[in-house]
Amino acid sequence: MKLKSQINHVIENAFSKAGIPHKAMSVSEATKAEFGDYQFNGAMALSKKLGKNPREIANDIINHLDVTGLLSKVEIAGPGFINIWLNPLFVASECQLAVESERLNIAQRENPSKVVVDYSGPNMAKQMHVGHLRSTIIGDTLANLLHFLGDEVTRQNHIGDWGTQFGMLIAYLEMKDEDGSVSLKNLEIFYKDAKAEFDANPKFADKAREYVVKIQSGDAHCLTLWQKFIDISLGHCEEVYHKLNVNLSRKDVRAESFYNDDLSHVVSDLEKAGLLTQSQGAKCVFLEGDEIPVIIQKGDGGYLYATTDLAALRFRAKNLEADRICYVVDARQAGHFKQVFKVAKNAHFVDEKVKLEHIAFGTMMDKGGKPFKTRDGGTIKLIDLLDEAVNKAKDTINNKEQYTQEEIDALAKIIGIGAVKYADLSINRESNYIFNWDKMLSFEGNTSLYMQYAYARIQSIFRKYNAPINGKIIIGDALEHHLAVMLLRFEDMLNRTAIDASPNQLSTYLYELATLFMRFYEQNPILKEGINITEETKESRLALANLTAKTIKQGLDILGIEVVDKL
Ligand code: ARG
Repeated sequence: MKLKSQINHVIENAFSKAGIPHKAMSVSEATKAEFGDYQFNGAMALSKKLGKNPREIANDIINHLDVTGLLSKVEIAGPGFINIWLNPLFVASECQLAVESERLNIAQRENPSKVVVDYSGPNMAKQMHVGHLRSTIIGDTLANLLHFLGDEVTRQNHIGDWGTQFGMLIAYLEMKDEDGSVSLKNLEIFYKDAKAEFDANPKFADKAREYVVKIQSGDAHCLTLWQKFIDISLGHCEEVYHKLNVNLSRKDVRAESFYNDDLSHVVSDLEKAGLLTQSQGAKCVFLEGDEIPVIIQKGDGGYLYATTDLAALRFRAKNLEADRICYVVDARQAGHFKQVFKVAKNAHFVDEKVKLEHIAFGTMMDKGGKPFKTRDGGTIKLIDLLDEAVNKAKDTINNKEQYTQEEIDALAKIIGIGAVKYADLSINRESNYIFNWDKMLSFEGNTSLYMQYAYARIQSIFRKYNAPINGKIIIGDALEHHLAVMLLRFEDMLNRTAIDASPNQLSTYLYELATLFMRFYEQNPILKEGINITEETKESRLALANLTAKTIKQGLDILGIEVVDKL
């Protein structure tokens, strides 16, 4: 339920009735329980404009406020804050609707947008490394979230499958074995070996250069080899996606090479638009206020990363009809995207109203605050990191005796992968962050395990109860009220997270919710021996627990993290 906009509506009505001119205004979540559920702080800002004391304005609003139905109480505090309490009956009935609904009573957008989310985008010549982790999971979360809210989402995996290095790689593939499956098992080694051969063997180097020209001119033999190379390489990535529980498949791949035929048109269209300038033999676009030009085509005819991105952007705007295009890419490429977006708008490759967003993220660091590397300074392969996470997760499983080996393996996967993802998704994406195994695999603090544990704990209550959970929600004490309002905030928070493309707002919410539930459960036991509560109270608490579990599950699902019934 869009709680805030409903409260805003009531406030706006009061303004109208009081005859105070107003624009759209918004309440905010109360910072402390004693301030109610929501606060309206707008009276202060209006005071100057209206030439009135803010408390007077607040009073005016309160006097015209409809406190039936949605609200139960309002109070003026301090210089003119309005503290707002929601009506427990309203809160209870909304929670009831949520728990009984398939999608927690969260609306699908009435006017869905067409959103392209560009994420992962590994380069085919190399194995995926930890640097690709962030783009892959932040992008996947964003795509999951927008899809859940009802947007039409197109996931695009802009893989790097084109460039001069492929001449060397396919020449080496041909030299080693036709099949490729053996020598390409480890891409990192394959790449190193090919490079060593290239440096040591002039004949091979010539062949590699010859192959670059040949693939570019569409030579069938070379293209077949290239295709094989890409297939195997992409297969490695898909293994990672599968392990990561990420929703990317072959159909989402629209590789750099897809745009090859359009690159000459990009150049001629920029030319026609009068945007191209020759500079030192290259064709460039000079942007106002930017000293560094965007190189579109080199003197030797070669195209660049930006050229392909311009073609891709145009394709997304024109063919995929996107209203919003999100590029989930390392913050270090900010300059590139700024330029590409500007050129695309200047050249009318994309309508002014299409939102182009670089969803930038920082770097993953080791404990010492340095970029994450292996002990000998090499890049850490993502697949190794994930396997390590699963191994470490095995140690955290309690009472192993009660599980079969298979169950332990399955559980460790869910816990380990969840921990790596959650640790990343729970921090502000723009900051760098320190990768810390102990912290991410802890049952305490803002971790996936804490969330999975809260969920499993609720399931264990249900197992003990062993009857259908379909009682009526009644709001009893303040803590119950607080928990219920928190649950109703879910939709507002998701919408905010979608606008800001900031998964950490979702994880922060989940953490607060789980923590609140644990407090609630300690103070308001449900099935404990010897407690004296009515059947109705018990059933209501069970229903609230149910809505909490469903909300945690839905939230984690958007983050691409699974839950378990027992932990
Ligand atoms: N392959 C690029 C890299 O590894 C990422 C691609 C991002 N997407 C894009 N449209 N440029 O840096």
